[in-house]
Amino acid sequence: MSKSIQFNTAGINRFRDLIIKSLIEITKPKGIYEKVDEKILKIEGLKQNKEQTIYGEVLENIQVIENSLKFVASIKQGQKTGLFLDQRKNRKIVSSYIQRGFKILDLFSNSGGFGIYCLKKGADFVEFVDVSQVAVSQIEENCKLNDFKNYKAIKEDAFDYLNNLNKKFNLIIIDPPAFAKTKKEKVGAIKGFQFLVINSIKALEENGYIAVFSCSHHITEEDLKKVLLFASQKTGKRIVIIEKLMQDLDHPYLLNSPPSFYLKGFLVKVI
Ligand SMILES: C[S@@+](CC[C@H](N)C(=O)[O-])C[C@H]1O[C@@H](n2cnc3c(N)ncnc32)[C@H](O)[C@@H]1O
Repeated sequence: MSKSIQFNTAGINRFRDLIIKSLIEITKPKGIYEKVDEKILKIEGLKQNKEQTIYGEVLENIQVIENSLKFVASIKQGQKTGLFLDQRKNRKIVSSYIQRGFKILDLFSNSGGFGIYCLKKGADFVEFVDVSQVAVSQIEENCKLNDFKNYKAIKEDAFDYLNNLNKKFNLIIIDPPAFAKTKKEKVGAIKGFQFLVINSIKALEENGYIAVFSCSHHITEEDLKKVLLFASQKTGKRIVIIEKLMQDLDHPYLLNSPPSFYLKGFLVKVI
């Protein structure tokens, strides 16, 4: 199996050669591809390496089985490792609330993880929205792989999509990229979340669900709760928290490193 690796801090970069050597020795990969975030490397004062295969051979697409569902992952072109593995557990939890006849809106869907789990659980229809053409092509491929036809994959900005929306859903998933990569960006990020949650509430059928996530360390669980409370007041709807969600186990939350608790989310029922 091919591996994807990324060095994002000057500290961990000191162990670069040891980590790569150990990965090769222990996991015997077919190939290793190094991903690069130029902005972060600049902040850390690290050499600007190019994204490239640093060991063996890495195929354009690999197939991954997650909880008996098939996904293609593009290590080279896709975001992160090609699949957002940190949401694996949450995809299972959120989709366990699907009832017969449910219509789902998967906003910021990337390769369609949440929506595809919902289709497997018997959802009537899923509308996927992502601004990236690579993501939309992957959704189409993933739906084909799992033999799902009751979906639509839309390449659009999620904010524009919500602004023009005139249909209703039973569950809306909101999983945007990190809106606040720095503390300075926090105010704008909160406003973005308020818009997304308020407009999603307006697009919900009676007793509908919203799963909302933030993958930025700067937006705390408390911030996300305040966004929900604000949206509840603005729309006059009551919001019940059904599940508190966080990153899956292989993205450890180290107590002595608060930024390692980066992914937080809530599944709520709007009544
Ligand atoms: C955190 S990922 C979503 C992961 C996904 N839920 C999953 O389970 O694989 C965020 C996604 O938002 C997309 N995105 C970023 N800005 C966007 C925007 N303004 N409108 C729609 N999609 C956007 C990115 O292309 C990326 O695929």
